Amino acid sequence: MASSKILIADDDLLVREAVVKILEMFGHEVIAVDCGQAALDVLDPFFDVIILDINMPGMDGFETIAAINERQLDIPVLFFTGAGSMEYAVKAINLGAYDFLSKPIEDLDIFDVKIRRAIEKRMYVLKGKAYKKNLEVEIQAKTKELAEKNILLKKYSHDLETSTVNTILTLQTALEEKDPYTAGHTMRVTAYALKTAKRLHLPREELVILERASQLHDVGKLVIDVSCIQKPGPLSDEEWVLVKKHPEIGQNIIKPLSFLEREGTVIRHHHERIDGNGYPDGLLGDQLDILEKILTVADSYDAMTSKRSYKINKNKDDAIEEMRRCAGTQFDQEVVKAFIDILKD
Ligand SMILES: [Fe+2]
Repeated sequence: MASSKILIADDDLLVREAVVKILEMFGHEVIAVDCGQAALDVLDPFFDVIILDINMPGMDGFETIAAINERQLDIPVLFFTGAGSMEYAVKAINLGAYDFLSKPIEDLDIFDVKIRRAIEKRMYVLKGKAYKKNLEVEIQAKTKELAEKNILLKKYSHDLETSTVNTILTLQTALEEKDPYTAGHTMRVTAYALKTAKRLHLPREELVILERASQLHDVGKLVIDVSCIQKPGPLSDEEWVLVKKHPEIGQNIIKPLSFLEREGTVIRHHHERIDGNGYPDGLLGDQLDILEKILTVADSYDAMTSKRSYKINKNKDDAIEEMRRCAGTQFDQEVVKAFIDILKD
Protein backbone atom coordinates (compact mmCIF):
# COMPACT_ATOMS: atom_id res chain seq x y z
CA MET A 1 0.00 0.00 0.00
CA ALA A 2 1.32 3.42 -0.90
CA SER A 3 2.05 5.83 1.92
CA SER A 4 -1.07 7.37 3.41
CA LYS A 5 -1.44 10.69 5.16
CA ILE A 6 -2.98 10.50 8.61
CA LEU A 7 -4.04 13.30 10.94
CA ILE A 8 -4.14 12.69 14.68
CA ALA A 9 -5.46 15.04 17.34
CA ASP A 10 -4.78 14.13 20.99
CA ASP A 11 -3.88 16.42 23.86
CA ASP A 12 -1.83 13.74 25.59
CA LEU A 13 1.75 14.15 24.41
CA LEU A 14 2.78 10.59 25.30
CA VAL A 15 -0.13 9.01 23.43
CA ARG A 16 0.44 11.31 20.47
CA GLU A 17 4.11 10.42 20.17
CA ALA A 18 3.42 6.72 20.54
CA VAL A 19 0.78 6.74 17.83
CA VAL A 20 2.98 8.75 15.47
CA LYS A 21 5.78 6.23 15.93
CA ILE A 22 3.52 3.27 15.29
CA LEU A 23 1.93 4.80 12.21
CA GLU A 24 5.30 5.82 10.78
CA MET A 25 6.52 2.30 11.44
CA PHE A 26 3.65 1.07 9.26
CA GLY A 27 4.84 3.48 6.57
CA HIS A 28 2.32 6.31 6.89
CA GLU A 29 2.89 10.02 6.86
CA VAL A 30 1.52 11.53 10.09
CA ILE A 31 0.56 15.04 11.14
CA ALA A 32 -0.07 15.24 14.89
CA VAL A 33 -1.80 18.12 16.71
CA ASP A 34 -2.88 18.63 20.32
CA CYS A 35 -6.44 19.90 19.97
CA GLY A 36 -9.54 19.91 17.76
CA GLN A 37 -9.03 23.45 16.49
CA ALA A 38 -5.45 22.68 15.44
CA ALA A 39 -6.78 19.63 13.56
CA LEU A 40 -9.26 21.80 11.69
CA ASP A 41 -6.51 24.30 10.91
CA VAL A 42 -4.30 21.74 9.17
CA LEU A 43 -7.12 19.69 7.63
CA ASP A 44 -7.11 19.45 3.83
CA PRO A 45 -8.58 16.97 1.30
CA PHE A 46 -5.29 15.08 1.04
CA PHE A 47 -5.61 13.29 4.37
CA ASP A 48 -6.73 9.68 4.15
CA VAL A 49 -7.68 9.08 7.80
CA ILE A 50 -8.30 11.23 10.87
CA ILE A 51 -7.84 9.97 14.44
CA LEU A 52 -9.54 12.01 17.17
CA ASP A 53 -9.26 11.83 20.92
CA ILE A 54 -12.58 12.45 22.67
CA ASN A 55 -11.56 14.46 25.69
CA MET A 56 -9.51 17.44 24.62
CA PRO A 57 -9.33 20.98 25.99
CA GLY A 58 -11.27 23.48 23.87
CA MET A 59 -13.20 21.55 21.20
CA ASP A 60 -13.71 17.94 22.20
CA GLY A 61 -13.71 15.08 19.73
CA PHE A 62 -17.47 15.33 19.07
CA GLU A 63 -17.37 19.03 18.29
CA THR A 64 -14.34 18.44 16.09
CA ILE A 65 -15.99 15.68 14.02
CA ALA A 66 -19.09 17.88 13.59
CA ALA A 67 -16.89 20.66 12.18
CA ILE A 68 -15.02 18.17 9.96
CA ASN A 69 -18.34 16.83 8.60
CA GLU A 70 -19.32 20.33 7.55
CA ARG A 71 -16.35 20.42 5.16
CA GLN A 72 -17.71 17.33 3.37
CA LEU A 73 -14.30 15.85 2.66
CA ASP A 74 -15.45 12.24 3.27
CA ILE A 75 -12.31 11.35 5.21
CA PRO A 76 -12.96 8.44 7.63
CA VAL A 77 -12.67 9.48 11.30
CA LEU A 78 -11.53 7.00 13.96
CA PHE A 79 -12.10 7.78 17.66
CA PHE A 80 -9.76 6.96 20.45
CA THR A 81 -11.86 5.43 23.22
CA GLY A 82 -10.94 4.28 26.68
CA ALA A 83 -12.38 0.98 27.91
CA GLY A 84 -16.03 0.91 28.92
CA SER A 85 -17.22 4.14 27.27
CA MET A 86 -20.13 2.61 25.36
CA GLU A 87 -22.18 5.77 25.59
CA TYR A 88 -19.41 7.74 23.86
CA ALA A 89 -19.11 5.11 21.18
CA VAL A 90 -22.81 5.36 20.28
CA LYS A 91 -22.63 9.13 20.16
CA ALA A 92 -19.54 8.97 17.94
CA ILE A 93 -21.25 6.57 15.52
CA ASN A 94 -24.26 8.85 15.35
CA LEU A 95 -21.96 11.72 14.47
CA GLY A 96 -20.52 9.74 11.57
CA ALA A 97 -17.39 8.15 13.05
CA TYR A 98 -16.03 5.30 10.93
CA ASP A 99 -14.44 3.16 13.68
CA PHE A 100 -12.80 3.11 17.13
CA LEU A 101 -9.29 2.56 18.36
CA SER A 102 -8.93 1.47 21.94
CA LYS A 103 -6.64 3.45 24.16
CA PRO A 104 -4.08 2.45 25.31
CA ILE A 105 -3.02 0.58 22.16
CA GLU A 106 -2.43 -3.01 23.19
CA ASP A 107 -2.78 -5.04 20.01
CA LEU A 108 -0.73 -3.61 17.14
CA ASP A 109 -2.20 -6.01 14.58
CA ILE A 110 -5.76 -4.90 15.29
CA PHE A 111 -4.62 -1.29 15.26
CA ASP A 112 -2.94 -1.83 11.87
CA VAL A 113 -5.98 -3.62 10.43
CA LYS A 114 -8.34 -0.85 11.53
CA ILE A 115 -6.11 1.84 10.02
CA ARG A 116 -5.77 -0.10 6.75
CA ARG A 117 -9.52 -0.62 6.55
CA ALA A 118 -10.09 3.11 7.01
CA ILE A 119 -7.52 3.86 4.30
CA GLU A 120 -9.26 1.44 1.95
CA LYS A 121 -12.58 3.08 2.69
CA ARG A 122 -11.02 6.42 1.78
CA MET A 123 -9.71 4.97 -1.50
CA TYR A 124 -13.17 3.71 -2.46
CA VAL A 125 -14.66 7.10 -1.67
CA LEU A 126 -12.05 8.82 -3.84
CA LYS A 127 -12.53 6.34 -6.69
CA GLY A 128 -16.29 6.85 -6.50
CA LYS A 129 -15.84 10.61 -6.61
CA ALA A 130 -13.48 10.37 -9.59
CA TYR A 131 -15.88 8.07 -11.39
CA LYS A 132 -18.79 10.43 -10.80
CA LYS A 133 -16.74 13.39 -11.98
CA ASN A 134 -15.66 11.51 -15.12
CA LEU A 135 -19.22 10.54 -15.77
CA GLU A 136 -20.35 14.15 -15.45
CA VAL A 137 -17.61 15.33 -17.80
CA GLU A 138 -18.51 12.58 -20.26
CA ILE A 139 -22.21 13.41 -20.10
CA GLN A 140 -21.47 17.08 -20.63
CA ALA A 141 -19.30 16.26 -23.65
CA LYS A 142 -21.96 13.96 -25.12
CA THR A 143 -24.70 16.52 -24.54
CA LYS A 144 -22.62 19.15 -26.30
CA GLU A 145 -21.89 16.78 -29.17
CA LEU A 146 -25.58 15.94 -29.52
CA ALA A 147 -26.54 19.60 -29.53
CA GLU A 148 -24.00 20.29 -32.27
CA LYS A 149 -25.25 17.35 -34.33
CA ASN A 150 -28.77 18.58 -33.85
CA ILE A 151 -27.87 21.98 -35.27
CA LEU A 152 -26.20 20.29 -38.25
CA LEU A 153 -29.23 18.07 -38.81
CA LYS A 154 -31.56 21.04 -38.69
CA LYS A 155 -29.39 22.82 -41.23
CA TYR A 156 -29.30 19.77 -43.52
CA SER A 157 -33.04 19.39 -43.21
CA HIS A 158 -33.56 23.07 -43.97
CA ASP A 159 -31.21 22.91 -46.97
CA LEU A 160 -32.99 19.82 -48.25
CA GLU A 161 -36.39 21.48 -47.94
CA THR A 162 -35.13 24.60 -49.72
CA SER A 163 -33.61 22.65 -52.58
CA THR A 164 -36.77 20.58 -52.98
CA VAL A 165 -38.88 23.72 -53.23
CA ASN A 166 -36.34 25.21 -55.65
CA THR A 167 -36.52 22.13 -57.86
CA ILE A 168 -40.28 22.39 -58.18
CA LEU A 169 -39.97 26.12 -58.66
CA THR A 170 -37.57 25.58 -61.55
CA LEU A 171 -40.11 23.37 -63.30
CA GLN A 172 -42.81 25.93 -62.77
CA THR A 173 -40.65 28.82 -63.96
CA ALA A 174 -39.79 26.81 -67.07
CA LEU A 175 -43.51 26.40 -67.74
CA GLU A 176 -44.18 30.09 -67.21
CA GLU A 177 -41.31 31.18 -69.42
CA LYS A 178 -42.74 29.18 -72.33
CA ASP A 179 -45.66 31.60 -72.29
CA PRO A 180 -44.84 35.33 -72.57
CA TYR A 181 -48.16 36.15 -70.90
CA THR A 182 -47.36 34.33 -67.67
CA ALA A 183 -43.59 34.91 -67.49
CA GLY A 184 -42.55 36.25 -64.08
CA HIS A 185 -46.01 35.75 -62.57
CA THR A 186 -44.85 33.53 -59.70
CA MET A 187 -41.97 35.85 -58.79
CA ARG A 188 -44.21 38.91 -58.75
CA VAL A 189 -46.98 37.19 -56.78
CA THR A 190 -44.42 36.01 -54.21
CA ALA A 191 -43.01 39.51 -53.84
CA TYR A 192 -46.48 41.09 -53.48
CA ALA A 193 -47.60 38.48 -50.98
CA LEU A 194 -44.54 38.83 -48.76
CA LYS A 195 -44.73 42.63 -48.73
CA THR A 196 -48.40 42.48 -47.78
CA ALA A 197 -47.74 39.95 -45.01
CA LYS A 198 -44.96 42.12 -43.60
CA ARG A 199 -47.28 45.12 -43.69
CA LEU A 200 -49.75 43.06 -41.66
CA HIS A 201 -46.93 42.18 -39.22
CA LEU A 202 -47.21 38.42 -39.66
CA PRO A 203 -44.58 36.41 -37.75
CA ARG A 204 -41.45 35.18 -39.52
CA GLU A 205 -42.56 31.51 -39.59
CA GLU A 206 -45.74 32.53 -41.39
CA LEU A 207 -43.69 34.46 -43.96
CA VAL A 208 -41.68 31.31 -44.73
CA ILE A 209 -44.88 29.34 -45.38
CA LEU A 210 -46.39 32.14 -47.44
CA GLU A 211 -43.25 32.45 -49.54
CA ARG A 212 -43.24 28.75 -50.39
CA ALA A 213 -46.97 28.64 -50.99
CA SER A 214 -46.68 31.65 -53.32
CA GLN A 215 -43.76 30.12 -55.18
CA LEU A 216 -45.71 26.90 -55.73
CA HIS A 217 -49.28 28.22 -55.97
CA ASP A 218 -49.75 27.44 -59.66
CA VAL A 219 -47.72 24.22 -59.68
CA GLY A 220 -50.96 22.38 -60.49
CA LYS A 221 -50.88 23.97 -63.94
CA LEU A 222 -47.88 21.74 -64.71
CA VAL A 223 -50.29 18.89 -65.42
CA ILE A 224 -52.96 20.90 -67.24
CA ASP A 225 -52.81 20.99 -71.00
CA VAL A 226 -50.68 24.07 -71.68
CA SER A 227 -52.42 24.80 -74.94
CA CYS A 228 -55.53 25.62 -72.96
CA ILE A 229 -53.75 28.04 -70.61
CA GLN A 230 -52.00 29.79 -73.47
CA LYS A 231 -55.05 29.90 -75.71
CA PRO A 232 -55.93 33.33 -77.13
CA GLY A 233 -59.50 34.35 -76.39
CA PRO A 234 -61.83 33.18 -73.60
CA LEU A 235 -61.81 29.58 -72.40
CA SER A 236 -64.63 27.18 -73.12
CA ASP A 237 -66.66 25.66 -70.24
CA GLU A 238 -64.70 22.41 -70.45
CA GLU A 239 -61.42 24.28 -70.46
CA TRP A 240 -62.53 26.24 -67.39
CA VAL A 241 -63.34 23.03 -65.55
CA LEU A 242 -59.83 21.87 -66.33
CA VAL A 243 -58.15 25.15 -65.27
CA LYS A 244 -60.16 25.28 -62.05
CA LYS A 245 -58.65 21.98 -60.99
CA HIS A 246 -55.15 23.44 -60.66
CA PRO A 247 -55.37 24.39 -56.94
CA GLU A 248 -56.31 20.82 -55.93
CA ILE A 249 -53.79 19.31 -58.31
CA GLY A 250 -51.15 21.64 -56.87
CA GLN A 251 -51.90 20.46 -53.36
CA ASN A 252 -51.74 16.83 -54.50
CA ILE A 253 -48.41 17.31 -56.26
CA ILE A 254 -46.69 18.48 -53.09
CA LYS A 255 -48.59 16.16 -50.73
CA PRO A 256 -45.73 13.60 -50.52
CA LEU A 257 -43.54 16.39 -49.12
CA SER A 258 -44.86 16.38 -45.57
CA PHE A 259 -42.96 19.54 -44.60
CA LEU A 260 -45.14 21.44 -47.11
CA GLU A 261 -48.49 20.41 -45.61
CA ARG A 262 -49.59 23.89 -44.63
CA GLU A 263 -48.38 25.29 -47.95
CA GLY A 264 -50.50 22.63 -49.66
CA THR A 265 -53.63 23.91 -47.94
CA VAL A 266 -52.82 27.52 -48.83
CA ILE A 267 -52.29 26.49 -52.47
CA ARG A 268 -55.61 24.64 -52.50
CA HIS A 269 -57.41 27.78 -51.35
CA HIS A 270 -55.78 30.47 -53.46
CA HIS A 271 -58.90 30.82 -55.63
CA GLU A 272 -61.40 30.88 -52.78
CA ARG A 273 -63.47 34.03 -52.19
CA ILE A 274 -64.59 35.34 -48.81
CA ASP A 275 -68.25 35.34 -50.02
CA GLY A 276 -68.03 31.58 -50.56
CA ASN A 277 -68.20 31.75 -54.36
CA GLY A 278 -64.63 30.64 -54.98
CA TYR A 279 -63.23 27.22 -55.81
CA PRO A 280 -62.59 24.36 -55.13
CA ASP A 281 -64.23 24.28 -51.66
CA GLY A 282 -66.44 27.40 -51.65
CA LEU A 283 -65.13 28.39 -48.21
CA LEU A 284 -66.28 31.57 -46.46
CA GLY A 285 -64.02 34.37 -45.20
CA ASP A 286 -63.86 33.12 -41.63
CA GLN A 287 -62.85 29.67 -42.87
CA LEU A 288 -59.90 31.08 -44.78
CA ASP A 289 -56.39 31.47 -43.44
CA ILE A 290 -54.78 34.92 -43.54
CA LEU A 291 -52.07 33.48 -45.81
CA GLU A 292 -54.76 32.28 -48.25
CA LYS A 293 -56.39 35.71 -48.25
CA ILE A 294 -53.06 37.40 -48.95
CA LEU A 295 -52.09 35.00 -51.74
CA THR A 296 -55.51 35.44 -53.39
CA VAL A 297 -55.12 39.22 -53.45
CA ALA A 298 -51.52 39.10 -54.73
CA ASP A 299 -52.36 36.53 -57.40
CA SER A 300 -55.48 38.35 -58.61
CA TYR A 301 -53.75 41.71 -58.82
CA ASP A 302 -50.94 40.27 -60.91
CA ALA A 303 -53.44 38.51 -63.16
CA MET A 304 -55.26 41.82 -63.69
CA THR A 305 -52.16 43.84 -64.47
CA SER A 306 -50.17 41.38 -66.56
CA LYS A 307 -51.19 40.52 -70.09
CA ARG A 308 -53.29 37.37 -70.06
CA SER A 309 -54.00 35.47 -73.21
CA TYR A 310 -57.76 35.73 -72.83
CA LYS A 311 -58.07 39.12 -71.11
CA ILE A 312 -56.89 42.66 -71.68
CA ASN A 313 -54.71 43.83 -68.82
CA LYS A 314 -55.63 46.76 -66.56
CA ASN A 315 -53.38 49.63 -65.62
CA LYS A 316 -52.38 50.00 -61.98
CA ASP A 317 -55.08 52.53 -61.03
CA ASP A 318 -57.88 50.54 -62.66
CA ALA A 319 -56.65 47.40 -60.97
CA ILE A 320 -56.58 49.14 -57.57
CA GLU A 321 -60.12 50.34 -58.22
CA GLU A 322 -61.17 46.79 -59.05
CA MET A 323 -59.50 45.43 -55.88
CA ARG A 324 -61.38 48.01 -53.79
CA ARG A 325 -64.65 47.13 -55.51
CA CYS A 326 -64.18 43.44 -54.77
CA ALA A 327 -63.04 43.93 -51.15
CA GLY A 328 -65.62 42.36 -48.87
CA THR A 329 -66.92 39.93 -51.51
CA GLN A 330 -63.97 38.37 -53.30
CA PHE A 331 -61.17 39.68 -51.10
CA ASP A 332 -60.59 40.32 -47.44
CA GLN A 333 -60.92 44.06 -46.79
CA GLU A 334 -58.01 44.35 -44.40
CA VAL A 335 -55.69 42.53 -46.79
CA VAL A 336 -56.78 44.69 -49.74
CA LYS A 337 -56.10 47.82 -47.69
CA ALA A 338 -52.59 46.62 -46.75
CA PHE A 339 -51.96 45.58 -50.34
CA ILE A 340 -53.00 48.96 -51.80
CA ASP A 341 -50.84 50.66 -49.17
CA ILE A 342 -47.76 48.77 -50.32
CA LEU A 343 -48.59 49.45 -54.00
CA LYS A 344 -48.80 53.18 -53.24
CA ASP A 345 -45.54 53.10 -51.30
FE1 LIG B 1 -53.91 30.06 -59.64
